[in-house]
Amino acid sequence: MNLLFIGDIYASTGRNLVAQHLPELQARHGVQLTIANAENSAGGFGVTPQIADELFSCGVDALTTGNHVWDKRDFHEYLDRCPRVTRPANYPNDLPGRGLIFVQARNGVRAAILNIQGRAMMTPLDCPFRAANSLLDQIPADVKVRFLDFHAELTSEKVAMGWHLDGRVSAVIGTHTHVPTADSRILPGGTAYQTDCGMTGPYDGVIGAEKELVLKKFLTSLPVRLEAAKRGGELHGVLIDVDEYSGRARSLERVVRP
Ligand code: FE2
Repeated sequence: MNLLFIGDIYASTGRNLVAQHLPELQARHGVQLTIANAENSAGGFGVTPQIADELFSCGVDALTTGNHVWDKRDFHEYLDRCPRVTRPANYPNDLPGRGLIFVQARNGVRAAILNIQGRAMMTPLDCPFRAANSLLDQIPADVKVRFLDFHAELTSEKVAMGWHLDGRVSAVIGTHTHVPTADSRILPGGTAYQTDCGMTGPYDGVIGAEKELVLKKFLTSLPVRLEAAKRGGELHGVLIDVDEYSGRARSLERVVRP
């Protein structure tokens, strides 16, 4: 079965790209399950219930997030209410939401979606590698299709997670850095891996934000309120063909739409 993952949807530029291209991508590639990271979809900072619903109505089946998931207050209760959205599993247990969900793909196959955050050069959280082990313990053996969005800063931490889960999940795809990496591969155990999927949003900026504002911040070291860049919109995603009987990935292909 074909699974499409769309990288960090950034602000209205990213949302418009999804609305514009998703139907064509799903039809062309016979996509049975579409997952997207939405943590930057509200102006670059967080996601709102309205935006999540809008993405679902565009054809996204499930949403993952990351460190920005807490930015919009009204999204906290949505995390508990909506069964199709995840937040990183290794935040404290008493926060709303969950890091593991089960969704039914369009071909009827039940898939597990996992969301974990890195802790190198990010908020210190519980060990992401142990969090992965404990999420896997909660997945029934007959759920073979397993997708992890690993939201992390550090390349080595992401590569290590790929090896940690090789043969135990169908895919480990990185998010958060917003720059797509050219290291797509199928690991020996059958896990599709890419360090970062890339952002779906405005590339004429600095990882989504207006470049003048980011430069001002770097040049002055003063706090600067960032705004979403407007130009250079590109959709970045990965298309993964998974054998639904074994859970092994057969292929991983980058998908880009200007
Ligand atoms: Fe992030």
